[in-house]
Amino acid sequence: MLVDGREALDGCHASSDSSVALPVQARPRVRLSFEPLLRRLLPVLLAAALAGCTGPQSALDPAGSDATQVSLLFWQMLGASAAIWCLVLGTAGYAARANRRPWRERTGLNMILLAGAIFPTLALAGLLIHGLRLMPELRAAGQDLHIDVVGERFWWRVTYQLEGRPVVVSANELRMPAGASVEVSLSSPDVIHSFWIPPLAGKTDMIPGRTTRQSLRPTRPGVYRGACAEFCGSSHALMAMTAVVMEPAEFERWLDAEAKPATASAHPGEQVFRVNGCAACHSVRGVAEGGMVGPDLTHLGSRHSVGAGILDNTPENIARFIAHTEALKPGVRMPSYDMLPEDDLQALATWLDDLQ
Ligand code: CUA
Repeated sequence: MLVDGREALDGCHASSDSSVALPVQARPRVRLSFEPLLRRLLPVLLAAALAGCTGPQSALDPAGSDATQVSLLFWQMLGASAAIWCLVLGTAGYAARANRRPWRERTGLNMILLAGAIFPTLALAGLLIHGLRLMPELRAAGQDLHIDVVGERFWWRVTYQLEGRPVVVSANELRMPAGASVEVSLSSPDVIHSFWIPPLAGKTDMIPGRTTRQSLRPTRPGVYRGACAEFCGSSHALMAMTAVVMEPAEFERWLDAEAKPATASAHPGEQVFRVNGCAACHSVRGVAEGGMVGPDLTHLGSRHSVGAGILDNTPENIARFIAHTEALKPGVRMPSYDMLPEDDLQALATWLDDLQ
């Protein structure tokens, strides 16, 4: 028997009386094989996507006025895009469902011109003009503090330049007072890197042979994470940095301490540092100066991480990094010192961690 143009399926009893209304068997629902998997994975995928909206490296959780502008622009553009998406889908849905007479050719052409050319041009031009209006403020030079950052493979050389104060060299950590307007000069000796601290500002390329610049206006004290945003070699993904925004008085105290030589007490680790030629590449002011190839280690113990953001700063991780440098950071110029006797390695790591 045919019911609603289809043959009745099991559970629908056949009858010779055509006047008896038969239950219409529901059409068996076709399930795509990946649908259950997708349903299970959807919460995980959504959670993973939303996890990027917060945390120390989120551009959507701004801690500086430049990042606030960028984040605001993102939400405005997202809102405008969502409105246009709804408008287009709504129009398409209406056109598909409404049983309307075909339009006259002239009306159709006008519709294409209006919705396909004039509206997108005006919408995109409006968003572009709005974005460009933010540029002068984002490009304004920083006035209070000047920091040079050089992108090395694969770490950051950081130099603080303040008028009337000694130059302070550090690495892999950028400290700034909240409320200051900071000018950052960016350069690289060999390959292109990109300087990006998402909670503070947008990203700027570091190009060999040129000095680019960025201004930062941090507003909220805290510890944030920055990263290299341009592929620069095998350890590009391991080239991170810590940005520390401090209360102004606290920053002054830190900068004064940072300008002084290292204050570690006499320790066998210092001898290991000297004997193994570490000073050929690394400076520890007050102990061995002049090594410029690798990061300055003068106050290593006060930094948040080891190896440019890849390990927490503990004596164990310092020892691990020294002994397995090439495994932890492929392509880095420092060789692994896995030939050091365990006692020497531990002494060196303890001494370095003590450099406050
Ligand atoms: Cu440096 Cu990517």
